[in-house]
Amino acid sequence: MKVLLLGTAAGGGFPQWNCACRMCAADLPARTQDCVAFSADGTGWYLINASPDIRAQILSTPELTAGPGPRDTPLRGALLTDAELDHTLGLTMLREGAGLRVWAPGAALQALRTDFPLQGIVSRYGAWQWQQAVGSFPVDGLTVTVFPISDKRPKYAQSTVDGPWVVAYKISDPAGGTLVYAPCLKSWPDGFDELTADATCVILDGTFYSPDEMSGATDAGVGSGAQRAMGHIPIAGPDGSLARIARRPGKRWIYTHLNNTNPILDPDSEQYKEVLAAGAEAPPDGTLIDV
Ligand code: MLT
Ligand code: MN
Ligand code: ZN
Repeated sequence: MKVLLLGTAAGGGFPQWNCACRMCAADLPARTQDCVAFSADGTGWYLINASPDIRAQILSTPELTAGPGPRDTPLRGALLTDAELDHTLGLTMLREGAGLRVWAPGAALQALRTDFPLQGIVSRYGAWQWQQAVGSFPVDGLTVTVFPISDKRPKYAQSTVDGPWVVAYKISDPAGGTLVYAPCLKSWPDGFDELTADATCVILDGTFYSPDEMSGATDAGVGSGAQRAMGHIPIAGPDGSLARIARRPGKRWIYTHLNNTNPILDPDSEQYKEVLAAGAEAPPDGTLIDV
């Protein structure tokens, strides 16, 4: 299976348009908002999440170029891990197409009918198909398994339907490789070790490096203090993801959804060297991975 890292930043991207923090002002490699594409055979491609940057991501990716017919596209569908704006707004940018197959957790589908009525909006442009992501299902010869993660609701969502609001996806190729994509982790969830045990490549939530990054104490000085409520496991610290990864070698661990305050955005930082030393990495946008 082929996997393309189309975007690797959290909501807002890097640099963020309204941010003049130390990180955003530094001349570091830019990153677009989190989105990957995968393909069993390199012909038909499926997105996981659809970021607001999807147009630029497609246009800069030869594998996703339109053709050979005048309105042909290799894009077949999208799996949504949740209903967050940084993961769903991109579908509005794809309205010029004939419509896609979209899978999402039930609570996210409900939010996309009511709080943010994306389903009704895009359905007036094309023949979109919406399906609940639950259990296991085949996609182009690959097997997709849905793993419930949390009940973290988007800030805009008022619906009180039962979760899970956030899921991870495991994509298994009968030819061998297995990808786990989990860009929104509140903690290291129960069952995540079992889910990832036989994975070749795990792409996971690297939003924040330290537990207090948004407090202004350690970072770039944005100081909003809202991180804990934002519900993303930090990379560092005894309860962080990196300590777990260091104890689980033997597969490719990749951080994505990096917030603009995260010091690992600087490849020369001590923090990024620690990430590499522990057996993880944060490759740039545009990276192609054979899984
Ligand atoms: C998140 O990852 O917590 C959300 O996407 C935040 C946002 O609305 O950008
Ligand atoms: Mn996000
Ligand atoms: Zn910033």
